[in-house]
Amino acid sequence: LPYEHPQDVNFSFDGPFGTWDYGQLQRGYKVYKEVCSACHSLKFVALRNLGELGYTEAQVKAEAATWTVPGIDPNTGEASTRPGEPTDYFPKPYPNNVAAAAANNNAIPPDLSLITKARADGTNYVASLLTGYRPPSEELLAEHPEAAPGPGLYHNVYFPNMNLAMAPPLTSNGQVTYDDGTEATIGQMATDVAAFLTWTAEPTLVKRKQTGWPVLIFVLFATILAWFSKTQIWAAVK
Ligand code: HEM
Repeated sequence: LPYEHPQDVNFSFDGPFGTWDYGQLQRGYKVYKEVCSACHSLKFVALRNLGELGYTEAQVKAEAATWTVPGIDPNTGEASTRPGEPTDYFPKPYPNNVAAAAANNNAIPPDLSLITKARADGTNYVASLLTGYRPPSEELLAEHPEAAPGPGLYHNVYFPNMNLAMAPPLTSNGQVTYDDGTEATIGQMATDVAAFLTWTAEPTLVKRKQTGWPVLIFVLFATILAWFSKTQIWAAVK
């Protein structure tokens, strides 16, 4: 099917000099928390990792406590729940895949920790997918009748088979209230959560890029040094 390639969105972490925009990562975290976490887990990320997004230790503790994680009732020893602590991992929305599939028209919402790595051009793909819901065009249906969404499926121009089991999760401007006053348009929320999910997939992305520069400078220096020592060593040979 003629699905579209992701749009090229501008991100602060693009390119060799890329850096995180911590305000954006915090906004994206809020979108994940208030919207995506209803269905998608983030199982490789610990709540303490939020400390890397510019929150203070006290804020991380308070933020962790807003999540409910599985625990044990200290009085009865029965399975129970308790507020999260920084050492906990992000809790999963469903107890298992059967429950996840049952709640989502038989499709299991994938874990989002690594999704921006698992899909080609993943950051742009996530941002595009969230804003790519529109009804199939007449021309498309004329050529590909199978592109019509079946029951419980939603048409999306960026999804490879063009129909997926995820209803549009971002549906109205202001769906999330940003703490920094940024206007929460659908496009803004999609971009911010895509940035956040890029951080979850590769928290060391910026460090990796920054490490490259001293390495290149050292290699250049070592090459020049090697050149001069070579000319010295062989100076006597005519
Ligand atoms: C699939 C992101 C909210 C249910 C996906 C995929 C991504 C994604 C990237 C994978 C698409 C692929 O396989 O390439 C998000 C984000 C959300 C969000 C960033 C929040 C802004 C939700 C919510 C629900 C949901 C709230 C449930 C009500 C699903 C399901 C699938 C899916 C069932 C599997 C679809 C299929 O394979 O047909 N989501 N999602 N998502 N999502 Fe979400």
